[in-house]
Amino acid sequence: MKLSSLIVPCLASLALAQTNATAHNSTVPHENSKTTIVVTNDDSWASANIRAFYDALKKEGYNVFMFAPAVQQSGTGGTFNLPTNATLAKGAEWQTAPAGAPSWAHDEKDDHIWYFDGTPGAAVSFGFDYALPKFYPNTTVDLVVSGPNEGWNLGPFVYTLSGTEGAMYTSILRGVPAVAFSGNNDHTYYANASNSETSAHKIYAKASTAIVKNLLENAKGRPSVLPIGVGISVNLPNVGDIDPTGKCVDPKPIFTRQTGRGAATYKLIFNETSGVFDEDENLKTDALRACFNGDCFLPDETDVVTKWGCYSSISVITADYDAPGGVAAEVQYLNRNLVTFAPTGYGSFPGRK
Ligand SMILES: *[C@@H]1O[C@H](CO)[C@@H](O)[C@H](O)[C@H]1NC(C)=O
Ligand SMILES: *[C@@H]1O[C@H](CO)[C@@H](O)[C@H](O)[C@H]1NC(C)=O
Ligand SMILES: *[C@@H]1O[C@H](CO)[C@@H](O)[C@H](O)[C@H]1NC(C)=O
Ligand SMILES: *[C@@H]1O[C@H](CO)[C@@H](O)[C@H](O)[C@H]1NC(C)=O
Ligand SMILES: *[C@@H]1O[C@H](CO)[C@@H](O)[C@H](O)[C@H]1NC(C)=O
Ligand SMILES: *[C@@H]1O[C@H](CO)[C@@H](O)[C@H](O)[C@H]1NC(C)=O
Repeated sequence: MKLSSLIVPCLASLALAQTNATAHNSTVPHENSKTTIVVTNDDSWASANIRAFYDALKKEGYNVFMFAPAVQQSGTGGTFNLPTNATLAKGAEWQTAPAGAPSWAHDEKDDHIWYFDGTPGAAVSFGFDYALPKFYPNTTVDLVVSGPNEGWNLGPFVYTLSGTEGAMYTSILRGVPAVAFSGNNDHTYYANASNSETSAHKIYAKASTAIVKNLLENAKGRPSVLPIGVGISVNLPNVGDIDPTGKCVDPKPIFTRQTGRGAATYKLIFNETSGVFDEDENLKTDALRACFNGDCFLPDETDVVTKWGCYSSISVITADYDAPGGVAAEVQYLNRNLVTFAPTGYGSFPGRK
């Protein structure tokens, strides 16, 4: 890889951020102008899923960039870790860049494909704050897509852990619409991945691209693809070569919610033989069935994706973690006498300063 020419001191980003390249304030392009999509993930820039997704989106004619972690970053959630050195100590995933290569650089054959030695949320921010303003000035990002993750991200517990979801919620907190995609295939180096059209990474790329294309078409002319502060978490079922029935090649997307009967969290189990703990990832609680927001009659994504067959789950999420008014009021009442309301109106709704 010819990467050395791309080392640039971090300080340069301070001046370059002034171009506001990614401030999202333009209408979603119509067919005749190009939509810009940023692709990221947590399994690294060299995984089969992200490369297949990037290729499929490019084939549709979108202006696509990849800003993804140099190495596997599964389970990093929304953490924001930056490179601690300008060069890689250990090399990128599968030695796609050697030790000593820059900590951020683009593919030698494609200057829209970048790795960054940080967590997913940091990698996508590297695109917004450094690479795009510096190398592609005045680029407006219409949509961030994250994944497809190697492994499902089902239910609210895993949602918070997942780096793929983390890059999605980092983006929506920046005001950039974002969709996370997760599948169930293994960690695979793209250069070694199967070329079969029934391999999971190919089907995932096709299914994810169809969801993106439909969303962008429906959003034409809107000021933003999604309402501000809102994102989507998609989970794709077992398909093609990882589907035991071998029948699922074109999963049908349906609307779902994160909580519900299937949602689970983790607990510890002490293993007397090994003397350490094992993890049980299937703890069901009433809290995981609670429905405070959204449509309580939607099926939950965990059941849909793991039990219903050839269906993809589409759960709509927001960056507003506050409890709804009624629930908050009950909790505020439990804090009465000591905790009071602010004497003057604050808040973020229009008209209040
Ligand atoms: C970028 O945004 C800042 C803050 O909103 C503004 O002061 C500045 O003029 C903008 N710069 C450009 C080049 O538009
Ligand atoms: C978007 O741009 C328009 C016109 O330049 C401006 O009036 C409006 O305040 C901007 N909105 C945001 C959210 O920056
Ligand atoms: C950065 O990497 C270089 C080359 O591997 C090494 O010599 C140097 O000690 C590293 N610096 C820090 C602060 O780790
Ligand atoms: C970017 O936009 C600014 C302000 O609209 C303009 O002055 C500048 O020429 C543009 N740069 C490029 C490379 O298009
Ligand atoms: C890729 O395939 C080659 C040739 O079969 C093999 O030597 C190599 O270990 C594989 N690499 C990975 C990361 O799977
Ligand atoms: C407990 O640990 C042993 C030794 O590592 C392992 O073989 C066994 O499968 C573990 N038991 C359970 C129930 O996971």
